Amino acid sequence: MTEVSASVLTVEPDNATSVFYNLETSKINYYHIDVMDGKFVKKNTKKIMKDYALTISHISNLGLDVHFMVDEVDEFIEDYANLEPEIMTFHIETTKTEEKTNEIIKKIKDTGSRVGIALSPDTSIDTVIPYLDKVHMVLVMTVVPGLGGQKLIPETLEKVRKIKEYIDANNIDIDIEVDGGINDQTSKLAVEAGANILVSGNYIIASEDYKKAVDSLK
Ligand code: DX5
Ligand code: ZN
Repeated sequence: MTEVSASVLTVEPDNATSVFYNLETSKINYYHIDVMDGKFVKKNTKKIMKDYALTISHISNLGLDVHFMVDEVDEFIEDYANLEPEIMTFHIETTKTEEKTNEIIKKIKDTGSRVGIALSPDTSIDTVIPYLDKVHMVLVMTVVPGLGGQKLIPETLEKVRKIKEYIDANNIDIDIEVDGGINDQTSKLAVEAGANILVSGNYIIASEDYKKAVDSLK
């Protein structure tokens, strides 16, 4: 079954609470929280995403799907742990050694959250292959991380296809999430390539009818 994780990156603060309610009634599966530190990517969303995650945890029982686009992931795992996210995802580009990568995987698992490992469009799938049997989800970035509302880079779907082939061949049961430029058209290509969790921000948030948008993704 295809699941939808709604990115709240472009939600305006003045009507955030009603947007969060509308997303829930539109039957999304997760709220996608894009945490940016101003270092790994230019933008800094530390404060607003923490505020949004807190608000959401008070008004909804749906899971938080937290995407850390940050250099120093340790401190963020600690900061988010008390919100008990369903998933916490870190970028393979930020953990420079195998030892560090394993340490972060363990640290997230110890909080009780599921672990996701993300890779940017320029990063080879070879960097994540050794960890796929230790995590719950792989997040394939379908745009360059940093901004909402970009166009999906078609070549990234080839990576989804290869990862799907690899996990099937090796009996590894994990989710494949795609993130960036997902709409009613690109979602079909992503699912066909093997993705089962679709992050979508701008397409849902800018639509007149969230329910219709979410249905068209599923
Ligand atoms: C990009 C973020 C994405 C993005 C998705 O760095 O990780 O989650 O906001 O938004 P859309 O669907 O607008 O590309
Ligand atoms: Zn994201």
